[in-house]
Amino acid sequence: MATSEEISRTIARHTYGTWRRQELWKEPLLIEDAEGVYFFDSAGKRYLDFSSQMMCSNLGHKNPVIIEAIQKQAEKLAYIGPGMISQATLEAVEALRSILPKSLEKFFFSTSGTEANEAALKIVRQCKSPKYKILSRYRSYHGATPGSITFTGDPRRILAETARCTIDGVRFAPDAYCYRCPFGLTYSKCDIQCARYVDYMIKEEGNVAAIIVEPVVGTNGRIVPPPEYFPLLRSICDENEVLLIADEVMSGWFRTGTALAMEHWKVEPDILTTAKGCSGAYTPVGVTVTTKEIADFFETETLDHGHTYAYHPLTLSAIPAAVSEYKRIMASGLPQKVSQHLKNRLYNLGDRHPSIGDIRGMGHFYALELVKNRATKEPFNVKGDRFSRKSLMTSQISAQALKKGLHVLAWYDTLIIAPPLIITEAEVDEAIEIIDQSLEISDKEAVLTDAPVSKSAEFSKRTKPS
Ligand SMILES: Cc1ncc(COP(=O)(O)O)c(C=O)c1O
Repeated sequence: MATSEEISRTIARHTYGTWRRQELWKEPLLIEDAEGVYFFDSAGKRYLDFSSQMMCSNLGHKNPVIIEAIQKQAEKLAYIGPGMISQATLEAVEALRSILPKSLEKFFFSTSGTEANEAALKIVRQCKSPKYKILSRYRSYHGATPGSITFTGDPRRILAETARCTIDGVRFAPDAYCYRCPFGLTYSKCDIQCARYVDYMIKEEGNVAAIIVEPVVGTNGRIVPPPEYFPLLRSICDENEVLLIADEVMSGWFRTGTALAMEHWKVEPDILTTAKGCSGAYTPVGVTVTTKEIADFFETETLDHGHTYAYHPLTLSAIPAAVSEYKRIMASGLPQKVSQHLKNRLYNLGDRHPSIGDIRGMGHFYALELVKNRATKEPFNVKGDRFSRKSLMTSQISAQALKKGLHVLAWYDTLIIAPPLIITEAEVDEAIEIIDQSLEISDKEAVLTDAPVSKSAEFSKRTKPS
C-alpha cells in the first residue's frame, strides 16, 4: 500500500501543476474528504476552507441535495450529444431564469468559466461585425484559453503573450480601484473618471464591439466600484452601441450578498457569463446567456461555436439543485448575519495589524491588501513578482495559515477571503484567529506609521440600492 507521500509524488511526477514552475509541484497536498466548510488531508488533518477552494464551493462540501441530483441524473442519462436535448437542460434553464434578469433569455452551456467567455467573444464578434475590439480592465481575470487570457489584465496574460497564445483586438481600460485610483483622484470628487475614460477610449479607438467587466473584481482584488460606475458604464455602452459583458464567474452566486453582483447597481448586461458557484462546484459548468436582441441575430446566421460536452446532462443536473440550495440558505438569514460579523472581524484585524493596507469587498467576498507602509501604500509585492522567483509576502502568510489548518488563498498583493455561504460566526472566528497569528510575518516587515487602515468595505455599503 503506497503512503500518502508516495501517492503525492507519483501524481506530481505524472501530472502538470497549474500556473507554476513544475519544480514547485513536488508533493501536493493529498485530500481525502471534505464536509461543510472543512476538508481533510490523508493524515486526517482538518482545514477550514476560507476561500471556498477556488472561490467556487459556495455551498460548502458534501451538500446532500446536489449529490442526490447528480446521482439521479447519472442513473437516468449521463450523456447525450448537444445536437439533442435532455430534460436536464430544461430544468437548468428554468432554475437560472428564476433568479437571473428576465432580459437574459438565451443560454449556451459549457463546462468552465473560460469557455463561457470564449463563447461570449465569438457571439460578440459575429453579431457586431465588422466591429471586433474588446475592452477589458487591468485588474481582471477571465480565463486561461486564448481569447479569455487576452482580455485578462493580470500577470497570467503576460506569460500567454510571450508564448504567443493570445488573440488581437483587445484594449485595456482603467480600473475602478479607489484605493489606488489610476487617475490619482479621490471619490467623490473624481466625477468617476474611470468610467468616463471608457467613453473616450471607445470613440478614439473605433471598432469597439464590447467591454467585459467583473462587476466586483475577483482574484485581482475584490474591487467594488463607486455606486455611479455601472449606471454610467451602461449608458456609455448604450450611447456608443457597445455590448456590456458581465463576467460573474466569481462575483455571482450570492458571493456579494445578491445572486449577481450587478444587482447592487440595478444594471443589466447584454451578455452574462458565469460558472464556479453556479453548480456549487459539484460539476464543471459554464454559462453564457444573452438578450433576445443578440439571440435574434443568430436566427439567420450560423452560431459558429460548440463543444462535445455542451449541454452535458450530468453537469447541468447540479444547477437546479444548487439554485434551490442557494434560495434556502439565503432565506435562512445566516449568510446576511455572518457577513456582517465577518466584516467586523476583518476591520478589527485591520486596526491591529500595520501590514494591512486596505480591507474591501462585500458579503462573503473580501480582500486584505497587504502593504509595507500604510502611509505611502508601498506594497510588499507587485504584479511582476507573481511569476518571478521572489517569495511573495501573501504566499508566506497563506502557507503559514495552511500549516495551522486554514485554507486562505493568496494573490500577489491580497489575501482572498471567500468562505462558503454556510459558514457560521464561530467558524469565522476560528479562521480570523489563524489569520491574526499568521499576519505576524508581514507585520514584522511593515513600517509603523500613524496612518489608519483603509476600510473600503464601508465604501461598498454605499453601493447598495436605496
Ligand atoms: C472572473 C472569472 N472569469 C473567468 C474565470 C475562468 O474560469 P475557469 O477557471 O472555470 O475557466 C475565472 C476563474 O477564476 C474568474 O474568476
